[in-house]
Amino acid sequence: MRLLLYTGKGGVGKTTIAAATGALAARRGLRTLVLSADAAHSLGDVLDEPLSATPRAIAPGLDALEVDARRVVESHWGRVRSYLAELFRHQGIEEVIAEELALLPGAEELATLVCVEEWAGSGAYDLIVVDCAPTGSTLRLVTLPEVASHSLRWLLRIQRAAAYVAEPLVRGLVGAPLPSAGVFAEADRLFYKTLHRLRARLLSNDTSIRLVVTPESMVIDEARRSLTDLCLFQLAGDAVVMNRLLPAEALREPFFEEWARTQEERLREVQQVFAPMACLLSPLQPDEVRGFEALAAHGELLFGDRDPASRLGESVRMRFEKDATGARVRMPLPGLDATTLEVARVADELVIGVAGRRRKIALPSGFAKLEVERVAFRDEELVVSFADRDGAGMGAHRAGAS
Ligand SMILES: Nc1ncnc2c1ncn2[C@@H]1O[C@H](COP(=O)(O)OP(=O)(O)OP(=O)(O)O)[C@@H](O)[C@H]1O
Ligand SMILES: [Mg+2]
Repeated sequence: MRLLLYTGKGGVGKTTIAAATGALAARRGLRTLVLSADAAHSLGDVLDEPLSATPRAIAPGLDALEVDARRVVESHWGRVRSYLAELFRHQGIEEVIAEELALLPGAEELATLVCVEEWAGSGAYDLIVVDCAPTGSTLRLVTLPEVASHSLRWLLRIQRAAAYVAEPLVRGLVGAPLPSAGVFAEADRLFYKTLHRLRARLLSNDTSIRLVVTPESMVIDEARRSLTDLCLFQLAGDAVVMNRLLPAEALREPFFEEWARTQEERLREVQQVFAPMACLLSPLQPDEVRGFEALAAHGELLFGDRDPASRLGESVRMRFEKDATGARVRMPLPGLDATTLEVARVADELVIGVAGRRRKIALPSGFAKLEVERVAFRDEELVVSFADRDGAGMGAHRAGAS
């Protein structure tokens, strides 16, 4: 089962490219599902078919659905939420505000991920293409299995508070039986298990992330930041799709002379910055790309002889090195502002923080007796050098940008 996630800045063409990929894959014989994970769904518009949370057959081999995260949250955490809302209301908080307060942070993103994993694990498809929300929330979504434990810990805290502190108080006020700790534990366990499986899937070779960009510098800058996140969370990006490229005929017009120059420049920049990921060229079409036939035709232009479901390129990955001169961890973090970087060794893990996001990396056993000696950020790469000393280092390091 292959899982492809398309992400990028708002309006660059994520939904179109995701649907075109799915349409072409289905035409070439794969059992394909295109799944919209963007709460502001527009997949149905692009496919010209009304969609819901259950798969709808679009063409032979192609199904599509739009995740209804609210409904999933409701079914998993509905009881937890009604309980919280009731608790807040009894504290004199207005109905609407109580409902808002009872919304659990990150719950909808978690629910979307759970949905992706449920379909991925269902065995019904050879390929699932996910149309993600614009970059900010998408990467949050994709990196959630890493950080989900944080949200879940938050939930558990409420659970504890509810069970041991608030319950006797509210019981007096409401005079009704309240959900036991078991209700919360059940929701947690379900999410934990599914997210655990999804995390393994996202880190496996079966999953690739594809970044969609247009030849505009702000769009490309945002994609570079996404690349840093992909590197930090060790997610495999295999390709970047350069969408809305002006066709050669247009570029020959004198009016587009400047466009021709910048497009060429940006294309080279993208190929260089995102290598060894593949760079796919997606021309601007004379009109919106809508409906199965138009999407499959656009897919043909985009992929040519390549298999849309295959791994199109390599991603930049972290490396562990150990030789006579010492041991090092190297992690490419392109476009990173090194002043936001923090590195610490905690027990047998290396903790890397970038602009408030934190990732723990288990160190290989060969690094067990070593201590962090130096942290450097050079040529867009983080290099953590380890030295042989007694005792495990616990100190935090800031990168000496050089
Ligand atoms: N290569 C293309 N040629 C012509 N029109 C395109 C092309 N790619 C996308 N479009 C059009 O641009 C608009 C935005 O595309 P799309 O909805 O796929 O972007 P998106 O990145 O998913 O946007 P959002 O961030 O809002 O979800 C749509 O009207 C789509 O038909
Ligand atoms: Mg979209």
